[in-house]
Amino acid sequence: MRIDILTIFPGAFRGPLDESIIKRARERGIVEIYVHNIRDWATDKHRTVDDYPYGGGPGMVLKPEPIFAATEAVARMDERRGPIILLTPIGRTFSQEVANELAQKERLILLCGHYEGVDARVHQHLVTDEISIGDYILSGGELAAMVVIDAVVRLLPGALGDPESARRESFVEGLLEYPPYTRPAEFRGWKVPQILLSGHHQEVARWRRRQSILLTALRRPDLLAKANLTPAERAWVARYLCQD
Ligand code: ADE
Repeated sequence: MRIDILTIFPGAFRGPLDESIIKRARERGIVEIYVHNIRDWATDKHRTVDDYPYGGGPGMVLKPEPIFAATEAVARMDERRGPIILLTPIGRTFSQEVANELAQKERLILLCGHYEGVDARVHQHLVTDEISIGDYILSGGELAAMVVIDAVVRLLPGALGDPESARRESFVEGLLEYPPYTRPAEFRGWKVPQILLSGHHQEVARWRRRQSILLTALRRPDLLAKANLTPAERAWVARYLCQD
């Protein structure tokens, strides 16, 4: 996969893309990531990227010309095609499902908005998708782009050491993840549940599944309603929650 990021703050991406799983995926050639400065496509003497909003009001708006020029030039840098995604609070909400969808593409172009917004013609005539990472306002699309990149890259074949881990995680099954334990078996008097030390793989799997179901029931009943439970599991959780 090739990912191109267009931003007026390219420095924001130094660090996050050079660590851990993303770093390894880049080194292995699983993903190529390029950061471009929109300002490089501004044509006036001061390399202006923003201007006052027509009709008045606070803040500045990102101008359309450098964004169109930058995006079109960057798109031509590779023959692979993919969505042009604007990170914006008015986009569709990002989720594991959207991450799965984007992980199938061979190319992503991510456009980071800023200030009070981006000229509406960019929304209307340039981008093919708009994504929000949640119902809160960030000062720009950069952190949102990093969230999207992280969630997508770890899904690419070969990005994780153990290919099972992406498949087993929270949200894949529609449930929250069971609580993990590692050594020591006792820490400050707090013991690891006995079942995990037993070596009975089937029993361990059953315990984990039930922990996932209970945690989801308590913390995210909205997810439980949609999760893939057997009728027996639904009956079990209903009984368990009614006990007190
Ligand atoms: N830009 C500002 N806020 C944002 C959000 N919540 N998601 C994506 N881009 C944004």
